[in-house]
Amino acid sequence: MSDSAPSAAAARSQQEAEIVAALGERPVVLIGMMGAGKSTVGRRLALRLGLPFLDADTEIEQAAAMTIPEIFETHGEPHFRDGEARVIARLLDGGAKILATGGGAFMREETRARIRDKAISMWLEAEADVILRRVKRRADRPLLQTADPAGTIARLIGERYPVYRGADLTIASRDVPHEKIVDECVAALHDYLCSAPAPTLSETP
Ligand code: S3P
Repeated sequence: MSDSAPSAAAARSQQEAEIVAALGERPVVLIGMMGAGKSTVGRRLALRLGLPFLDADTEIEQAAAMTIPEIFETHGEPHFRDGEARVIARLLDGGAKILATGGGAFMREETRARIRDKAISMWLEAEADVILRRVKRRADRPLLQTADPAGTIARLIGERYPVYRGADLTIASRDVPHEKIVDECVAALHDYLCSAPAPTLSETP
């Protein structure tokens, strides 16, 4: 290989270093429905960028010393949502990281405003059938313990997608290798954070 032609790996790590420099202290917050792949993709994206990965649901469980189904059952959803907002507010401070959030977190105006101020938001958009297939594998989502999980997912998508659409970036989550989604996240972050804006007509000589 010639010295003048940087390898694909070097170009990639240059791109990743530029993203991390451009982020400064800002976290990247992953939003999206249950089963969209926020934790799986988030963990891999963090590894790629050399940033810490945190999962808001795990932090909530640790803070409460209870699982999410136990919190819902013992204290109810409104109590869970208040704790979720507090935990996310705390996690938005303390430097750059990849932060996966639970599907309902971005629906709270106060949390959206904090994310807008302090972070870059990235929506992993998934189709209803992909979500249904993925969430069927686990029974730890209290909102889906209904007689008709497909109907519940369709209702939540109707309520949430118009709000998720306000994220800074959107990536289509689908059944392809996780690394492909991570590549798309890296490319979208680089475009968003590091591409110089095209000069306007008045700036051209
Ligand atoms: C929820 C999603 C869950 C968890 C809780 C509520 C939601 O997180 O926060 O069960 O309202 O969509 P995941 O999106 O990580 O599954």
